[in-house]
Amino acid sequence: MNIQWFPGHMKKTFDLIKQNLKLVDCVVMLVDARAPLSCENPLITDLLKGKPLVYCFNKCDLADKSLNSKWKDYYKRAGAAFVNTDAKNSYNIGALIKTIKSMPYKESVVKGRRKIRLMIVGIPNVGKSTLINSLAGKRVCATGNKPGVTRGKQWIRLHGDLELLDTPGVLWHKFEDELTGVHLAITGAIKDEILPIEELALELIKILRKDYLDLLENRYKVEFEGMSDVEIMEAIGKKRGFLASGGNIDYDRTARLVLDEFRKGTLGRISLERP
Ligand code: G4P
Repeated sequence: MNIQWFPGHMKKTFDLIKQNLKLVDCVVMLVDARAPLSCENPLITDLLKGKPLVYCFNKCDLADKSLNSKWKDYYKRAGAAFVNTDAKNSYNIGALIKTIKSMPYKESVVKGRRKIRLMIVGIPNVGKSTLINSLAGKRVCATGNKPGVTRGKQWIRLHGDLELLDTPGVLWHKFEDELTGVHLAITGAIKDEILPIEELALELIKILRKDYLDLLENRYKVEFEGMSDVEIMEAIGKKRGFLASGGNIDYDRTARLVLDEFRKGTLGRISLERP
């Protein structure tokens, strides 16, 4: 499967982040804990060099617990600042603030002449608005899908000595390889309307069959051992009674079910990428 997506405002976004970067002391790079590698954009990582950077693995409530710890160890070993968060339930927000405060800042900031200013960056749907609201302790940023609304820069005062730019830096997706696109699409970072849903669900089933067969069997109460990806999809459709005309399986409906249940965490805590 080859997902192609060319955002129209890549350069504009890049320039905006570059401008805002001058205003902040620290950047929080938000990634989806289930597919962190696919969420990173090398161009931005280059741009951020020299700026205190905190990696925030969000949606950790949906990701595989053991892999959350593995990622944490991996980043710690690399000497990077790392925090797992569930922005929706404000989990680990205190730890995030503590980590932000512990970063090596310039003397002007350290001496307390001004507050530490920060910006959150990440690809669409990773939870930037939710995290901003969680950090602010109130709804200051609209969540869900929205086109870039431009307004004046505003700083949200957080408790302690922190100020947060209320407009997150929206990164564009990178599709360096096919798998990155697939992982992003499975997590819901790309709009489903432009995706081949059935192929995508089969890619997810392939991952689940290999690494999380028990979760899949528990959820659908079917033994999938020895079945191919397509056979698993058909068995799920059959079990749920998703039939199309002529008695065939309704593949589209079955595909949407599996993807939806993965995204909501109904299938269990699942990660698509490991260190
Ligand atoms: P964005 O600004 O980066 O585009 O993302 P946004 O905050 O709008 O969040 C996208 C979706 O992800 C929202 O769900 C939000 O609730 C959910 N979300 C954000 N952080 C977390 C997290 O840590 N854990 C979980 N489980 N979900 C998270 P939605 O269905 O689009 O909207 P809503 O109905 O929840 O408001």
